[in-house]
Amino acid sequence: MRLDRRLSNLGYGSRKEVQRMIRLGEVTTASGEVLNDKSSVEHDEIRVDGELLDPPSPLLIVLNKPAGYVCSTDERETTVYELLPERFAERKPGLNSIGRLDKETTGMLLLTDDGQQLHRAIHPKSKLDKVYHAVLDRPLNGTEGATFASGEMLLDSDNKPLLPATMEVLGENEALVTLHEGRYHQVRRMFAAVGNHVNELRRVKIGNWALPEDLEEGQWRIVSEEERVLLFGK
Ligand code: URA
Repeated sequence: MRLDRRLSNLGYGSRKEVQRMIRLGEVTTASGEVLNDKSSVEHDEIRVDGELLDPPSPLLIVLNKPAGYVCSTDERETTVYELLPERFAERKPGLNSIGRLDKETTGMLLLTDDGQQLHRAIHPKSKLDKVYHAVLDRPLNGTEGATFASGEMLLDSDNKPLLPATMEVLGENEALVTLHEGRYHQVRRMFAAVGNHVNELRRVKIGNWALPEDLEEGQWRIVSEEERVLLFGK
């Protein structure tokens, strides 16, 4: 792919804008050699204004979502995409979140520009477990775990019972809940159905991969190949 198209697809500017950057000598190799449209160089050799080029597609990133951000691209709301570099919004193919977290839910959110990966991961048959840490308004009464695990729990406005979910008690009003599906506001609605209320909700694990401890709220990073395997398998 020509260099101008490559940069444009990564969101560095329109074809015209990146052609100008190339003409001005802003696009170089690591050793400073100025590149032109016809240069064929490895992706990781290219620098823009001396900075490493963003990774190509397929891109998979993990974000530690803060409260108050929505996962949709609704312009009236503050979206998770605002936590990423602005040019990511111009990438082709574009990034989408793998499933969604509510506006007030925090924690682990994956985003990818790989349509196939996205499709596989959000398919109802996907075996991706998701683990949530819930802080509750009232103390647990001891029966929630059995209700959640029953496979018979039917939430208001759903026509199918929930798949069995597991719950681990962490404290008087704190629990870890593992889901094998992802319905709208599921954890909040499950606790509401047993007479409680979720005050704080945080996704702490997806598949076999826990949210990296060094990733602060609002921060994101690229998922490594080993981490990708922990998430999705081979
Ligand atoms: N369950 C919820 O209630 N909210 C989320 O964001 C995810 C799971």
